[in-house]
Amino acid sequence: MGIMEYYAPTHVYFGEGAEDKVAQVLAENGATKVLVHFGTGSVKKTGLLDRVEELLDKAGIGFVELGGVVPNPRVSLVRKGIELYKSEGCDFILAVGGGSVLDSCKAIGYGVYGGGDVWDFYCGKRKVEGTAPVGCILTLSATGSEMSDSSVITNDETDPVYKRGVNTDFGRVRFALLDPMLTTTVTRYQTACGATDIMMHTLERYFHDGYALDFTDQLSFTLLKEVMKWAPAALKKPNDYDARANLMWCGSLSHNGLMAAGNSTKGDWACHQIEHELSAEYDVAHGAGLAAIWASWARYCLDTDRARFVKLGEGVFGESDPEKAIAKFEDFFRSIDMPVDIKGLGLDFDEAACRRAALGVTFQDARTIGNFKVLDTEDIFNIYMMASGLK
Ligand code: NZQ
Ligand code: ZN
Repeated sequence: MGIMEYYAPTHVYFGEGAEDKVAQVLAENGATKVLVHFGTGSVKKTGLLDRVEELLDKAGIGFVELGGVVPNPRVSLVRKGIELYKSEGCDFILAVGGGSVLDSCKAIGYGVYGGGDVWDFYCGKRKVEGTAPVGCILTLSATGSEMSDSSVITNDETDPVYKRGVNTDFGRVRFALLDPMLTTTVTRYQTACGATDIMMHTLERYFHDGYALDFTDQLSFTLLKEVMKWAPAALKKPNDYDARANLMWCGSLSHNGLMAAGNSTKGDWACHQIEHELSAEYDVAHGAGLAAIWASWARYCLDTDRARFVKLGEGVFGESDPEKAIAKFEDFFRSIDMPVDIKGLGLDFDEAACRRAALGVTFQDARTIGNFKVLDTEDIFNIYMMASGLK
């Protein structure tokens, strides 16, 4: 059955005002000069960045700013961050933002520690063997990067553009300051994308080819139901603490390993691979891309293990017909204005586009993905065709 690993070392501070602890927590971590990394403007607009910098000033902790992280964060800015960290003599990296900012920070950490070309870690040429320390103030509930071992970076210096993830325990950040109220300014669309991503991190773990602990299955159903309850509540009332808090904690727990704890594998992850190709090539939002392909994946893989789908449907919807349960997930995505096919992403895929994307996923036929059902280029092509309404 194998030995499972569960490692979630991040020190979490959760609740309204958690970000006020930033100077104290940085000092406890020995930080004296911090690279403060953020996105394209939201943290300036909300005043969060000013507040954070004021707290650092008061505590006598030096800092240097680097903004500009875009969704699907780019390696070019990571390179700038590595240079800045070194030239400014920083000893800590603080993410103030969503998953993209966090992932960019993690990449800077690997690059600072490992030297050389940081992309090596993402294309599999070198293994991450350490990192500069990273902590975060999270502003968007979605990726779970605040507790995950993962960082996903897009290489915008190549043609085609590559989006690659690296998983390593060095990616577990030292601390996460989680204030649900910081997420009240997130747009409807990003809130819905985030909710979808949170659900998918649990669904990807639920489907796999190994032993599944029933307790973990039941936790997974609860998490899915909670997200489906609180996402609409957050859309209806964006500043609702309960809604934002439940989404935020679901986001962290969905991707910190708990939802596979006790299982014999870490999950399937095919949908993420299929999605990453879309967000690399077409720069769509990750959560929306997942919503657009999940049901097609599910229908394609249903007969691999129907019983697993039946258990999911019963656990989440009290629905023992798996086809109907898949349709209910689609209904939910529709209800929060997520796309349920590739057209809904604003993309007009023909057969050639499906083929090209499938080859991109398998690195030109050099690998398979998934373990619930192992998918090769042809399988992935079929899933893209189904998600494009061509099959
Ligand atoms: O750039 P700013 O101005 O901050 O705006 C961002 C961005 O436009 C905005 N935003 C964030 N917090 C806000 C806010 N707007 C208003 N108020 C706030 N409080 O939201 C937009 C999206 O932000 P982004 O960080 O890109 O979103 P998300 O957290 O969904 O991150 C997506 C990235 O993470 C990767 C995805 O592939 C994608 O690249 N993932 C990372 C994972 C991980 N490291 O564990 C796992 C995931 O599966 C995923 O692959
Ligand atoms: Zn994801």
